[in-house]
Amino acid sequence: MYSSLLLLAALLATGTLSHSPNSYSFNPLQHLAGTAPPFDPLDPPLGPSPPQGCNVTRAAYLVRHAAIYANDFDYESYIEPFVQKLNNTTVNWSTIPTFSFLSTWQNPITDAEQEMLTRAGKLEATKLGVDIAQRYQSLRTPEKIWTSTAERTVKSAKSLTQGLADNASDIQVVEISEGEEEGANSLTPYGSCPTYSSSAGSDQATTFLNRYAAPIMARFNAESPAFNWTATDVYAISLLCGYETVIRGSSPFCSLDILSPNEWLAFEYTNDIQYFYNTGYGSPVSGAIGFPWVNATMNSLMGDHNNTSNATTDQDLYISFTHRELPPTVIVALGLFNNSAYSGANNINGTMPLNTINHRRAWKSSYFLTFLTNIAIEKMSCDSYGFDAGTYYRVLVNDSPQSLDGCAEGPGESCAQGNMTSWLSQRAEAVGEYGTTCMVDYANSTDVLSIYNS
Ligand SMILES: *[C@@H]1O[C@H](CO)[C@@H](O)[C@H](O)[C@H]1NC(C)=O
Ligand SMILES: *[C@@H]1O[C@H](CO)[C@@H](O)[C@H](O)[C@H]1NC(C)=O
Ligand SMILES: *[C@@H]1O[C@H](CO)[C@@H](O)[C@H](O)[C@H]1NC(C)=O
Ligand SMILES: *[C@@H]1O[C@H](CO)[C@@H](O)[C@H](O)[C@H]1NC(C)=O
Ligand SMILES: *[C@@H]1O[C@H](CO)[C@@H](O)[C@H](O)[C@H]1NC(C)=O
Ligand SMILES: *[C@@H]1O[C@H](CO)[C@@H](O)[C@H](O)[C@H]1NC(C)=O
Ligand SMILES: *[C@@H]1O[C@H](CO)[C@@H](O)[C@H](O)[C@H]1NC(C)=O
Ligand SMILES: *[C@@H]1O[C@H](CO)[C@@H](O)[C@H](O)[C@H]1NC(C)=O
Ligand SMILES: *[C@@H]1O[C@H](CO)[C@@H](O)[C@H](O)[C@H]1NC(C)=O
Ligand SMILES: *[C@@H]1O[C@H](CO)[C@@H](O)[C@H](O)[C@H]1NC(C)=O
Ligand SMILES: *[C@@H]1O[C@H](CO)[C@@H](O)[C@H](O)[C@H]1NC(C)=O
Ligand SMILES: *[C@@H]1O[C@H](CO)[C@@H](O)[C@H](O)[C@H]1NC(C)=O
Repeated sequence: MYSSLLLLAALLATGTLSHSPNSYSFNPLQHLAGTAPPFDPLDPPLGPSPPQGCNVTRAAYLVRHAAIYANDFDYESYIEPFVQKLNNTTVNWSTIPTFSFLSTWQNPITDAEQEMLTRAGKLEATKLGVDIAQRYQSLRTPEKIWTSTAERTVKSAKSLTQGLADNASDIQVVEISEGEEEGANSLTPYGSCPTYSSSAGSDQATTFLNRYAAPIMARFNAESPAFNWTATDVYAISLLCGYETVIRGSSPFCSLDILSPNEWLAFEYTNDIQYFYNTGYGSPVSGAIGFPWVNATMNSLMGDHNNTSNATTDQDLYISFTHRELPPTVIVALGLFNNSAYSGANNINGTMPLNTINHRRAWKSSYFLTFLTNIAIEKMSCDSYGFDAGTYYRVLVNDSPQSLDGCAEGPGESCAQGNMTSWLSQRAEAVGEYGTTCMVDYANSTDVLSIYNS
């Protein structure tokens, strides 16, 4: 009796195996979509180690740049108007309990630094290089990695080489044009796709923003009516939580006394709606934009190993840096995070209602769009109990293994080499060709990404 009470006390003390509303905790930083610092979402919570009997023999990574001070659009549309309003207001913040910190708060974002990597961003990118080097100790350090030309992507790539190589200058950082007539042959193929619209999803997202922000505005305006809080101010607060955290290490705007967990989830959902229609399943072009990276990467991974050649295509590791738009399109090309997968009805319109949050959706941008978000494809040589010996492939998103819908019968839910080619053809057909889907209107386009040969 006494000992079982002790056991119970011990279990409660460690917080394990117990229902308890009193131990509820919530971290807004894991619900900030594109402004979230990197974290492992564990979605699904499969173990990231190679399956029993398998060795990784090659791997490819697509990585979004690391943390920046602020994205132009976020800054100009939301943060700058809010900060200017703060500068002009007659409200005496030290008398307003929720926002008393505003009496001394300074904007962390200057015009000059806006699109630049933060110190934490550089550190995280270098750490990713270390993580990759440690994870794949038997793979050769790559001679080349690739990046789009924007300063924030190039600096992220260079920061990664500091952690990946013994001497960073052993790795050449190849810069790939962000021009608008590159067809599929770039790390920014959405920019060369006339049918891609950078504003797609804003109307839907704004509809939901106005809905969830209304009671928040009413609450804030009850405390500080002279500020005349608007929906865009409410949105700016959430963005500042993310950006200020990656600049200063923490932010008073992340406080759960300002926005409740439910309200942070509504901010996240607003972003999910935006990305769903912008670069997700709600866009008729996203899969076609993402597929060329998948195709080129799988071709390189599947190619014969040739240790005697110095050709770039003979690397063990293929790492590329891009912007926030590309990873979600690759996710669509791979059929991952699909709200209606396995439902038997692929109804993209029924899963992201604009009047309430679908908490059970698979499409959660915080899980695949954080700063430094990465999609990995691993080639594995396996001799696992209960499976044929051979070559298998596995996809990981931010360290969580993802099983491919229709090709997950191998060890650790991996896809057998013998099934990969036909699975890829099915995906190619489902998402459509780049050129025709994008209705490319310039003469020299291409449907193939060939940067790994450059
Ligand atoms: C702030 O005040 C300036 C000068 O009075 C004015 O021009 C500007 O429109 C104001 N900005 C905002 C966001 O209220
Ligand atoms: C803040 O407002 C003052 C007075 O309205 C103005 O002179 C100043 O330029 C503003 N500062 C910023 C950063 O907008
Ligand atoms: C703001 O309120 C505090 C506390 O009531 C007061 O001490 C301070 O003088 C006020 N500041 C201004 C600028 O009115
Ligand atoms: C790194 O390699 C470069 C080029 O080979 C060489 O000049 C440099 O001294 C090396 N740096 C270190 C710290 O070994
Ligand atoms: C097409 O031509 C433009 C203009 O010369 C060039 O910038 C672009 O790289 C070319 N695209 C391809 C896919 O070769
Ligand atoms: C509050 O802001 C809204 C939106 O900018 C504006 O339409 C309204 O006139 C403002 N109200 C007051 C009292 O300033
Ligand atoms: C995939 O890549 C191969 C090799 O570059 C190419 O021949 C094929 O057309 C590509 N498939 C699609 C659907 O783009
Ligand atoms: C590969 O490069 C090394 C060093 O540059 C050189 O010694 C070797 O001959 C090259 N091998 C081939 C097959 O080209
Ligand atoms: C490997 O590369 C070398 C040098 O480029 C070439 O001579 C050889 O044929 C290649 N072997 C295979 C199996 O592709
Ligand atoms: C989704 O809605 C759009 C716009 O109403 C429509 O064009 C599209 O065909 C719908 N898709 C499906 C799968 O029902
Ligand atoms: C995996 O690597 C280990 C250690 O090098 C080796 O003993 C084993 O045979 C390898 N397994 C496969 C399936 O390649
Ligand atoms: C390929 O997929 C089929 C059906 O999904 C499965 O039965 C077969 O075992 C897979 N092939 C290999 C080599 O694993």
